[in-house]
Amino acid sequence: MLRKPQLLSTRVIPRQIAIRPKDFQKELLDELKYHRATVVNSTALTHWIQEDRFEPAWADCVWRDVKSLEFDSIKDAQKKLREISPRWRYHGELLHRRGALIAEGVTGKKKSEVLQFPNLPLYSSDPVFTLAESNLLLYSHSVSRPTPDGYLPFQENKEVPPSRAYLKLWEALTLLGDWPKPGESVVDLGSSPGSWTWALSQLKANVLSIDRSDLSEQVLRDPNIEFRRGDAFSIKPTPMDWVFSDVICFPQKLFEYVQTWLESGHCKRFVCNIKLTGEADPAVIDQFKKLPHSRVIHVLHGKHELTWICHPKI
Ligand SMILES: C[S@@+](CC[C@H](N)C(=O)[O-])C[C@H]1O[C@@H](n2cnc3c(N)ncnc32)[C@H](O)[C@@H]1O
Repeated sequence: MLRKPQLLSTRVIPRQIAIRPKDFQKELLDELKYHRATVVNSTALTHWIQEDRFEPAWADCVWRDVKSLEFDSIKDAQKKLREISPRWRYHGELLHRRGALIAEGVTGKKKSEVLQFPNLPLYSSDPVFTLAESNLLLYSHSVSRPTPDGYLPFQENKEVPPSRAYLKLWEALTLLGDWPKPGESVVDLGSSPGSWTWALSQLKANVLSIDRSDLSEQVLRDPNIEFRRGDAFSIKPTPMDWVFSDVICFPQKLFEYVQTWLESGHCKRFVCNIKLTGEADPAVIDQFKKLPHSRVIHVLHGKHELTWICHPKI
């Protein structure tokens, strides 16, 4: 349930700010409870968390290592911010107009941005700030996603891909900051009707695409794609640059399957959707998180599912 924005009544400075998801509020709160996180304040758009121990998977974006800055006036805020970084991103909510005036002097040129995959949003590495009180702002240099609220507005292709599912993949790869390169070998498990396979073939990767159902004819025409009809889990680990999975199956089945890949050492880069039916069990999420070089996130273009990303850079 959304609450009205509230000003910080007592000076409890959070160490982490989680941007609340529109549709998965309960999942986020269950996850915070599971990890015994202390929510010190909630606004309509955010939870302010006392500790900074982990990245909540259900948050749209997480600002970590949050710091506070007191100031006397708008000019003073701008001066103090510039002393920390030459350029900032602003997330407006509490005291939005005052924050926007401060932002005018310190943020990069505003341009409504539609992203062409694979490109990162402008200013994606700049620190972010928001107002907590009229003379107190909160800021972070450690933002979990390329935009302060996590949302990535992509230029869509409405002609070829058979569904919008490719947006989930683009989002995961954009926030990872890496994607398959031309000539790399990738496997796409549970690929029908073929949006992910299409997106991967656009990157000029060699795609082994597997599903029990057929791919759309238009996708299948691409010479970079080899399609096999059958059980995705019959594919045994073999040298591969990337493994992708959007198979609908129980999380435990996916977990056991990816473990066979990790143990084989044949692949180091994975993007796999964990499909959740009914209540999302935070313990299930946690077992994926604990795999080496792993991160679990909810992609904003996805539904009731989380994405396990495993990559040497994590
Ligand atoms: C969400 S859809 C995949 C959508 C796909 N990523 C795309 O972009 O078009 C899930 C797919 O998993 C497939 N699937 C489920 N269990 C499977 C299995 N054991 N082996 C192969 N495919 C399976 C279903 O046939 C379905 O096409």
